[in-house]
Amino acid sequence: MDLKYMNFKDQNGIGRAHFNRPEKLNALNTDVFRDLETIMSCCEDDDTIRVVIFTGNEKAFVAGADIENMSKGDIRSAYELTDLTMRVQERLADLPKPTIAAISGYALGAGCEVALCCDFRIASQNAVFGLPVVKLRIIPGYGSTQRLPRIIGIAKAKELLFTGEQISADEELSIGLVNQAVDYDQLDGTVEKFADKLIALPPLSLRSLKEAIQFGMQMDLESAIRMESYLFANCFGSEDRIEGVRAFLEKRKPKFKGF
Ligand code: COA
Repeated sequence: MDLKYMNFKDQNGIGRAHFNRPEKLNALNTDVFRDLETIMSCCEDDDTIRVVIFTGNEKAFVAGADIENMSKGDIRSAYELTDLTMRVQERLADLPKPTIAAISGYALGAGCEVALCCDFRIASQNAVFGLPVVKLRIIPGYGSTQRLPRIIGIAKAKELLFTGEQISADEELSIGLVNQAVDYDQLDGTVEKFADKLIALPPLSLRSLKEAIQFGMQMDLESAIRMESYLFANCFGSEDRIEGVRAFLEKRKPKFKGF
């Protein structure tokens, strides 16, 4: 895989995408977004990858969009950039398999927004979330005005977006922004354990659950529940459903195929 500022490896069903631009605290420039797009393509196409983890280093998950890039350019270049970034974040949010952001250090601006595209966020105690972009006289451009209120509620989202203040791991946990907060030396182990738990479950069910929640949240309730019933029926017709039920009755572990 041809990547410039990210690494990617997959092992035992887990894809690990690692932001690797430490000299700039993993700030996201166009090249990093292109790397992310390449990784998305691989994860979409490869059925052996069942869960994808995104991570940075101890000091920074991602410290935001590259501010140096923002010092140049005009409206036209901003539109070109958001075309790319919107495409990447949508692919990340809609990836038909579970995604986990393993966050240590700074998750600011666009870094926070990448984490918001993931299904789960597990933070180390030194994780710092914030959307300081208002201080640069612009507003976030990578989805947080929409995703953050859907995750933590409107009032707290407005507080974070309007003030641009940074918050600690304990507050992230208390407002439901992260699923777990653990000591840094436990971060990798905790994330692996959680990924293993997901891998043991039938991929079609997880994919259908994700679709029901992702798309259902954008629909009226009646349509969303109708969609849920179709997804339910689709799972019911799967070989994995037969295997899951048979394994339960035969008191053994199921072997899921993903269809
Ligand atoms: N864009 C571009 N470069 C960034 C960056 C960003 N978002 N965040 C950090 N960097 C660069 C710094 O310019 C510095 O590069 P240099 O060594 O070539 O000067 C390097 O990363 C290390 O950052 P530094 O500021 O020296 O580290 P620090 O520990 O003193 O401070 C932060 C860390 C995160 C508090 C500080 O870097 C910061 O405020 N970054 C911007 C955060 C932000 O506003 N993000 C939202 C952007 S929309």
